[in-house]
Amino acid sequence: MENNKMYLYPTWLRIWHGINAVCIIMLIVTGISIQYSDLQYPFIPFGTAITLHNIFGVIAVISYVWFIIGNLISKNGKQYRIQRKGLINRLIKQTEFYVFGYFKDAPKPYPISEQNKFNPLQRISYASAMYFLVPISIITGLSLLYPEMIVDDLFDINGIQITAIIHASVGFFLSIFLVIHLYVSSVGKHPIKNYKSIVTGYHERT
Ligand code: HEM
Repeated sequence: MENNKMYLYPTWLRIWHGINAVCIIMLIVTGISIQYSDLQYPFIPFGTAITLHNIFGVIAVISYVWFIIGNLISKNGKQYRIQRKGLINRLIKQTEFYVFGYFKDAPKPYPISEQNKFNPLQRISYASAMYFLVPISIITGLSLLYPEMIVDDLFDINGIQITAIIHASVGFFLSIFLVIHLYVSSVGKHPIKNYKSIVTGYHERT
């Protein structure tokens, strides 16, 4: 820690985060257009939406491989490990802080440190998004890009249809994650403090 600042987000992670954020936003916008647009009056012309969705999907997959390798070879991966013992109590304590404590200026139950940069709710939501939702969206997305990988029928239901439903559902949950992520990142002494951290790499204690 230097001058009341902690270096929490190394360059490789910030580059991944920026590329990933642009890709996921583009995937959500083009995905919604593909799913819901009226073919005659599309939000984005259907062919363009498919091409953009495929391009940003492939970039997101490459950046995800980068994230996994970065977490494997650096200490950052440890931040995503979840200790099951006492988990429920930690989650309740952190939820109480967000619902009551934060508005009464109570001290954070889990102050940020270099060893523990996420609070329990962040840890579980980041781990679920990055190690559960994103992999499912990648596997189903790649299967839809190469449909010959998909089994034709599963219990008499079309394999492509099931894959598409899982892909769209995971996309929906990732959109919800993003909205909550953006809100929670603004919680603190100053609303843009955390946004500054993910750009500069430094978390400032105030
Ligand atoms: C415009 C879009 C986004 C903004 C402004 C944003 C903002 C932030 C901020 C401020 C942080 C640092 C604070 C913290 O650790 O909680 C952060 C970290 C993080 N964000 Fe985002 N985010 C965006 C999109 C996304 C998306 C789409 C994902 C994943 C699907 C994501 C996943 C993460 C993860 C996993 C971390 C923790 C990284 C680490 O320290 O290991 N973010 N984001």
